[in-house]
Amino acid sequence: ANLATDSRPICIVGAGVAGLYAALILQDLGIKYEILEASDRIGGRIWTHRFNGDVGYNAARNTSERYDYYDVGAMRFPKIPFMDQVFDLFKRIKIEDLLIPYTFHHPNNLLCYNLRGPVTREVAAQTVDYFHVSVSNGGTVPDRYAQEQPKDWIDRIYDPFKCLFAKMNTVDPSQRWKAFREAWMELTKYEHLSTRGYMLAGKEGKAEDAPDPYPESVVHWLETMDSGTGLYDKAFVESVMGSLDFDWPFPEHNPHPSVESPSWYCIDGGADHMIREMACKLSKQSKPKTNQTVVKIEQSEDPKGMKVTIRDDQGGLDTREYAQVISTVPLGCLQTIDIDRAGLTYSQREAIRSLQYEASTKIGIKFKKRWWEDPAVMGKDNIIQGGQSQTDIPIRTCVYPSYGLNCPSAPGVLLASYTWAQDAARFGSLAQGQGTDADKDLLETTLNNLEKLHGISREKFGDVLDHKTHAWYNDRYARGAFAHFGPGQFGRAYDNKSLFASLKAPAAGGKFHIAGEATSVHHAWVLGALNSAWRAVFNALICRPDKRRELVKRWPTPDEESVKMLLQLAALAEDNCL
Ligand code: PHE
Repeated sequence: ANLATDSRPICIVGAGVAGLYAALILQDLGIKYEILEASDRIGGRIWTHRFNGDVGYNAARNTSERYDYYDVGAMRFPKIPFMDQVFDLFKRIKIEDLLIPYTFHHPNNLLCYNLRGPVTREVAAQTVDYFHVSVSNGGTVPDRYAQEQPKDWIDRIYDPFKCLFAKMNTVDPSQRWKAFREAWMELTKYEHLSTRGYMLAGKEGKAEDAPDPYPESVVHWLETMDSGTGLYDKAFVESVMGSLDFDWPFPEHNPHPSVESPSWYCIDGGADHMIREMACKLSKQSKPKTNQTVVKIEQSEDPKGMKVTIRDDQGGLDTREYAQVISTVPLGCLQTIDIDRAGLTYSQREAIRSLQYEASTKIGIKFKKRWWEDPAVMGKDNIIQGGQSQTDIPIRTCVYPSYGLNCPSAPGVLLASYTWAQDAARFGSLAQGQGTDADKDLLETTLNNLEKLHGISREKFGDVLDHKTHAWYNDRYARGAFAHFGPGQFGRAYDNKSLFASLKAPAAGGKFHIAGEATSVHHAWVLGALNSAWRAVFNALICRPDKRRELVKRWPTPDEESVKMLLQLAALAEDNCL
């Protein structure tokens, strides 16, 4: 069949934010599509848990019913040059008025490490070695290092690279991709190293302006204060990208008017407002279909296209013909779909199996009241409104709601623990379902840790009304929280031999495209999902230059892509344009 006139739809597998974004673009370009979702819910890793169900979704702003939730998945959006696509999408789906400030740090947030604290960040910073990690205080960190803050040592490592990305602040937005590319090429010179490896390595293996190697005890200390347990064993590239996301190098005097001063946002009422508004924009005939499990994706020869076999909730199988397929499901889910005859290369199949995902677990507790905002509990100068407290005890990070602050009767929902990596995997072992003995252990540990982190006993918290834990590695439809590659997995070559780049190239002679945040450089952000969807649609239009040009004109090109390089990578598939 001639791809340019093929009237069969494109099949989008997965109705998370990547799948819905691909659908919005295709609809805008006048191309037919169908979205298949295996679970009974759309949104994927954008998921708002409401203790009061849909009542909360429909409740008016600043009423208590509205704030009975926490975001189990994506919850915070930094306004930095990287994230343009995300804010552009908010505009397109008209939810800008739902964006409210997300407080990353509140002055009364607490720290508690090495059995010392709780103490505010500011007070801890005023005392040399407040947490007694130095050799002279009985720890292992050489005194000279412990005299400064962890952030000072971390900045020395990341800043040379962050300065390169900071050029994106000042270049014309149309040239941002070039600034990104240059910085990325420099950063990925060290892509074979873990964060720990980079910090420990001698000068030869490192950037010219890198500091002298850090002692092992220092690297361990920095990981503890800055990250999840074990995350420094993952790719150095991931750490630098993460540091850019959480701490973008804005110039003091921002010369670029389109970039506002650093700020974070969340979505009032829950991140899933975004999902439902995206789905609303899709035409009636093309709404995502839930409970449609894709079990097989294969090439069909006559007419050329793709065949997809779907299992519905009754167990019935149905095989349908499509012009092309865009998979947006996490790689762990794609791995168990039968793709033996989907026209994947060796490198692509290896990538699906081996690119690493991270664990992340969130424990939401609904208390009778917001005790952390209550002067009677905290002391009148110590109340906490938003931000996060951090510790080395198992809960690691406790995130206070930045929403419902203008609603005096807002429910006492607290993200009591947000963990990554080994911390998340260990809590994940206990997340065996509400009411199980393991779950009771989990709740008990969490309450115990909250007492320690805040230095108050649990009677003062008041009643626990409900709780909800989610360990993303245990999720049937996620099989990991987000991609977080190991050393060497990004690769430097932009060809179909490296694991990462090969995954971005079309398969099946241009008819099968693999998207999802894992296939973007921006892992663990909505941005990565959007960028991947844009690239998958671009590749789906390889044989339709007219539509491709419309795409580039109407939908922002991700900074991590260049049209020229995409065409090069796809050239292998081009001879299939009949
Ligand atoms: N975006 C997520 C957050 O805000 C997760 C993330 C983890 C992002 C690690 C980057 C690095 O917490």
